[in-house]
Order: sequence, then C-alpha cells, then structure tokens
Amino acid sequence: MSERKVVEVSTQEAKRQNEIINILAQRIKGKNLKFCLSTFGCQMNARDSEKIKGMLEQIGYIQTENEDEADFILYNTCCVRENAELKIYGRLGALKGKKRKNPNLIIALCGCMMQQDVVIDTLKKNYKFVDIIFGTYNIYKLPELLQTRLETNENIIDIWDSYQDIVEDLPDARKFDFKACVNIMYGCNNFCTYCIVPYVRGRERSRQASDIIHEIENLVADGVTEIMLLGQNVNSYGKNLEEPMTFAALLKQIAEIEGLKRIRFMTSHPKDLSDELIEVMASSDKICKSLHLPFQSGSSAVLKKMNRHYTKESYLELARKIKTAMPNIALTTDIIVGFPGETEEDFEDTMDVVREVGYASAFTFVYSKRTGTPAAVMEDQIPEEVSKARFNRLLELVNTQGAEILHGYVGQTVEVLLEEVSKGNHEVLSGRTDTGLLVNLPASKELLGQYVMVNIVESKSHYLIGELAK
Ligand code: 5AD
Ligand code: SF4
Repeated sequence: MSERKVVEVSTQEAKRQNEIINILAQRIKGKNLKFCLSTFGCQMNARDSEKIKGMLEQIGYIQTENEDEADFILYNTCCVRENAELKIYGRLGALKGKKRKNPNLIIALCGCMMQQDVVIDTLKKNYKFVDIIFGTYNIYKLPELLQTRLETNENIIDIWDSYQDIVEDLPDARKFDFKACVNIMYGCNNFCTYCIVPYVRGRERSRQASDIIHEIENLVADGVTEIMLLGQNVNSYGKNLEEPMTFAALLKQIAEIEGLKRIRFMTSHPKDLSDELIEVMASSDKICKSLHLPFQSGSSAVLKKMNRHYTKESYLELARKIKTAMPNIALTTDIIVGFPGETEEDFEDTMDVVREVGYASAFTFVYSKRTGTPAAVMEDQIPEEVSKARFNRLLELVNTQGAEILHGYVGQTVEVLLEEVSKGNHEVLSGRTDTGLLVNLPASKELLGQYVMVNIVESKSHYLIGELAK
C-alpha cells in the first residue's frame, strides 16, 4: 500500500472508532459504569493500556482498581515467559465466579498472549465466559468490539495476524501529566531464538517521523517535559520507511523540540547500536545518560545459538565505547540464565560481562521455554535446579554491583524530576535522575512534575535518599 493510502485508511478508521465512541457514550450515559484494567508485561503493554484507558474514559467508563465493583474487566496480557501466562490463567479462574454472580459483567482479554492459537483454543474450551478477545494489532478497534458485544450479546474473538495500518489520533489517557511514552515503532524482526515477541507482535514497522514529532510537540504543549521513546529495537528505527532514516537522526530532530527537557528510549539491541547514536547521545543535554542494553548471555557460543549477532568481545567493546563517550552514563541490561546447552563456563562468561561492564540494575531471568520458538526444541535443556542456582549467583552479583554504583552518588548534587508520592510515606516524593536512578526525598506534593537539585545523602540497595539542595 502506498504511504498516502495507508494514511487515508488510518484516518477513516480513527474517524469510525471515534463515531462509535460517541454512540457508546450516549448508551451508557448516567449509568456510572466502571472498568478495571490490569496490565501485565513490558512498557509496550503499559503504553497500549493507556490507549485502552483513553478510549474507555472517552466512552464514559470510570476507572476502578477494584474488580469487585467493575462492570468491565480487561486483562492486557503478556506471554514472554511461562509464568506470565500462568498468572493470567490463575486470575481468569477467579473471574468465573464473578461472572456467575453478575451476568452483566463484561470480561475482555487482549495483548500478546492472545496472539497464540493454543491460547485461543484453551480459552474457547475452558473459559467460555470471556466476552471479548482481541490481539496486539487491533487495539484501536475496542470501541467497535464492545459495541458488537453489547448489541449481539455474543462472544467476540477478533485476532489479526499482522498490522493493517497504524491508526493515529484516537483518545489516549496518560498516567502522568509531565512525562509520557511514545511508540516509535512496533514489532520485531530479530527472532532471537528464545523469544516469542516476533510471533505475537509481528514484523518491525516504524511510525513516520513527522507523526512522532507531531505527537511529542502536542505532548510538550500539554505540559510534558520527559518522553520515553518505545520500540522493541529502537536502533533499527526507520529502516523500513519509504524514506529510510536512522534512529540517531530521529533523536536529533526530537532534541530540537523546544520545551522538552529529557529524552529516554528503550530497548536498544547491541548489534544495531551505531557510532552515530553514541555521538548524538553524547552531544545532547536533553538525551538522558542512561541506556538499557540487554546482553542476554556473556558466552559467544550461547549468543550464537540465541541468534543475537554479537560476541562477548564485541559487546564489551561497545560498552567501553559508550562509557568513554559518556563517562557518567548508567547502563542497565537484561540477562537470561539457563539457555539450552549453557555450561558452567558459559555462565561464568555472563558473570564476567556483569563484572566488567558494571550495571546500575539488571533484569535477570531464568530461561523459559516458549512453544514455537527455535530454542524450545534445542537439545540440552538445563535442569531447573541448575538454572536456579546460577540465577541466584547472578542476582547476588547484580545486586551488590548495583548497590556500589548507587553508593558512588552519595555526596553528589543531582537534578531530579519529581514523579510520585512515595507509596510507603506520604511526606516523601520519588523521582529520577537523568541517569534513571530512583531518588526518595522529603518534599511537598506541590513540587510534583518539577526538576529540583538534590543532595544525595544515603544509598540503599535499589534507590538513593536525598534532600532538596538549598
Ligand atoms: N525466557 C526468559 N527470558 C526471556 N526474555 C525473552 N524471552 C525469554 C524467555 N523465553 C527476556 C529477555 C528480554 C526480556 C524482555 O525478556 O531478556 O530482553
Ligand atoms: Fe525478542 Fe530479540 Fe526482538 Fe528483543 S530483539 S523482542 S529479545 S526477538
């Protein structure tokens, strides 16, 4: 489809859904209906949930955190590891009784887990009480699916197996007034052999730079000062656009937007991280000095089996290059332990990388077999007790190192964006440094959303404690 045609289809779709939103709004007016939305998984899902929330609030539904008082319950699901799926099935089991008590309750499931045939078969067989099921490609159709459900009283399953178009300009409900996530691309082409994401989120598709810039300009006009650019692999942004452009070039354009103070992005694949990107990052004060750079395994042999396209040495070299260009940068990462065939030496390579690079924090995972991925049928699956023991050793190293990095901040004065009232203590606000570290400090709620200078007085294992600088 030509670019023009895509834009037309997208505009018509947005118009149609907005019209349905208005019809539904009339229908539920005055009924005081509530929705409860639970989000599982990554930032992509969190962002999708903001769109879902935006559409439902526009219809007139009111959000509640309590499923017992909800008229509409939605789960935005994740399937990246088996545990995530088990959690959903567990929660669904509990919903069955609620539906029996209140037949008017509507239950909807969406997100990555729904893109698997085996899940849909299970739901059809054992969870017939689920009213609406949709996937990752047609979230924008929620108003229409809801309308059909209300009119026909029939269960609806609408799963697509690829994107048709990227629909812009639908309602949106952001969690924060002053910071926002912006999708720059969808899907992934990398097919790491352990990962289900390419199968459930489809091929890579970049949004037009002009749409992204326009969205951010609107956000800034609305009071947003920090944005997080989201993509499964932001470093390959723009490769499939009609007029290709690099992620670094996009960042440069975004950094020119006046009023924007902080730019973050995730996730970066090491194989695609260019010198141009390092240069652009280093030369812009607006681009935060924090980088999430998953290495998954430190063993070149395992990396090859994972289809990651880099080696232990080339990753270490890249990390060195980044730190030379930006000495204060905080690196974070994802690591998988117990990939099929992982030997003790392979695991030691992983520990080496952690020791050598130094991460402010790391997400560590035990390998989880995902049916349909190449790694699921590889020989030498690692016994759980071996993976678990390695996992614990890795976690200990990661935690100790993270705490040391945090300790290095004590005595420094840093700029912090104050983001929320601390859950444990209402007199304390939590915020983040440019390097992405969490800081707690006593401060008044009026300062939420503001940038303040903070003296760091103490470090804990996962956060810093500070005081407002005089
Ligand atoms: N098992 C364990 N961890 C996984 N991840 C992705 N797939 C799997 C799997 N099958 C992890 C990777 C990725 C993060 C989002 O989830 O580390 O970077
Ligand atoms: Fe999964 Fe690899 Fe794509 Fe990340 S880059 S989403 S780990 S396939």
